[in-house]
Amino acid sequence: MDLKKLFGFDGKTVVVGGAASGMGKSACELLIELGAKVHAVDINPVDLPVEKSYQTDLGDKDSIDNLINELPEKIDALFLCEGIAGFKGRELLVQKVNFYGQKYITECLLNRIVDHGSVTYISSVGGFGWQQIYTKAVELINLPSWEDAMKWYEEHHKDIESSYVFAKQCLLSYVTYKCHSKEFIERKIRINAINPGDTTTGLTDDFNKSTSPNGDAIEGAAMIENIFLKSWNGYAAEPKDMGYPMVVVGSDICSYMSGQLIYIDYGLTSSWTNGALLKSNNKTIEEISAESQE
Ligand SMILES: NC(=O)c1ccc[n+]([C@@H]2O[C@H](COP(=O)([O-])OP(=O)(O)OC[C@H]3O[C@@H](n4cnc5c(N)ncnc54)[C@H](O)[C@@H]3O)[C@@H](O)[C@H]2O)c1
Repeated sequence: MDLKKLFGFDGKTVVVGGAASGMGKSACELLIELGAKVHAVDINPVDLPVEKSYQTDLGDKDSIDNLINELPEKIDALFLCEGIAGFKGRELLVQKVNFYGQKYITECLLNRIVDHGSVTYISSVGGFGWQQIYTKAVELINLPSWEDAMKWYEEHHKDIESSYVFAKQCLLSYVTYKCHSKEFIERKIRINAINPGDTTTGLTDDFNKSTSPNGDAIEGAAMIENIFLKSWNGYAAEPKDMGYPMVVVGSDICSYMSGQLIYIDYGLTSSWTNGALLKSNNKTIEEISAESQE
C-alpha cells in the first residue's frame, strides 16, 4: 500500500496557521514528509522547508486580510493551530487569536477550499463542557462582521469567566454548528477539531504562569499537573502526539469524518464523563455492573 497516496497530501496545497512551534510545527513536518506544499503562517518566523511562509499576526483583521490576498487560489486543506494563553489584560486578544480570527480566516478562504477538502482546528480539553455556552457562541458566530463581533465581546466580557476556555469552547461550538451548514456540506468540506491534553510546547511556560493566581510558573505547573495528570498518574504529551493525529484527521484517511471534536488526552475527559454520569445516576460502577448481570 502506498502510504503517501493513502493520506492524499502528495502535491496538495495545505495552509497551516501557528506553524512556527509546537503542534503546528509537528503537523507541518509530517505534511512535508507526505509531499504537501505547505503554506505556513505564524507571527514568528517559520524554520521549516515549506513552499512559502508568511509572518503574520492572526489576531489582527488587517493582517489577516493582507494574508488572504497572498495565499494560493486553490487550497486542499486548512489546519489552524495558533493559540495563546489567557493572561489577564489580554482577554480580547485571546478571543481573536484562539477563535474569532480562525473563524474569519476559514470563512475568507472557504470558496478556495476544494470540494472534499478539510478544515481542522486545535481546541483543547479546556473546552470540555462547551455545550453550556453553545447558544451564546452561535449568537456570536452568526454576527455579520468582525466589527460586530468585537462589539459583542465588549458587551459580554463580564459573562466570560475564562477567556481561554471561552475561546476554545466557541471553536468547538463552531465545528458543531457549521459541519452541516450549506457552505460546508454542499461541497463536502469536512470540519473537525482536536482537543489536546497537557502537552509540552512553546506555550507551557505561559500556561503555567497564567494558571497560577500569582503568575508563578512553579505553582501553575503544579496546578496543571493536579488537574490534567494526577488522576491517571499521567505525563505531558509531546507536540507530535497532537500534530500527527491532526494531520490524519485532515487527510483522506478520515474522508468520512466531519463535525468531530476529538479528545487526545489519554482518556482524561472520558474519565470526567464517567464520573459525571455515575454521579448524575447516583450509582457506582459496581452497582451498574451488578445490575447489568442480573
Ligand atoms: N500545549 C498544551 O498543553 C495545549 C493543550 C491544549 C490545547 N493547546 C492548543 O494547541 C495549539 C498549539 O499550541 P502549542 O501548545 O503547540 O503552543 P506553541 O506556542 O508551541 O504554538 C503556538 C503557535 O501559535 C503562534 N501564534 C501565537 N499567536 C499568534 C498570532 N497572533 N498570529 C500567528 N501565530 C500566532 C505562535 O507563534 C506559535 O508558533 C494552541 O491553539 C493551544 O491553545 C495547547
